[in-house]
Amino acid sequence: MYVCICRAVTEKELQKCIDENSCTKVSQVKKLCGAGSRCGKCIPWIKKMLKESNQREK
Ligand code: FES
Repeated sequence: MYVCICRAVTEKELQKCIDENSCTKVSQVKKLCGAGSRCGKCIPWIKKMLKESNQREK
């Protein structure tokens, strides 16, 4: 399923990007996989995934 339609980034790809790079910020995700860098509609979803990943790591 696509998280970011503009950049065609799937939930799986986004999770991989977050995990591999230990992303904590939307700006990092934007730079590394492009998600969220166009219309911004997917940003709340990216934020949610970042939050969940970071909680898991603690
Ligand atoms: S859906 Fe992600 S930037 Fe538009």
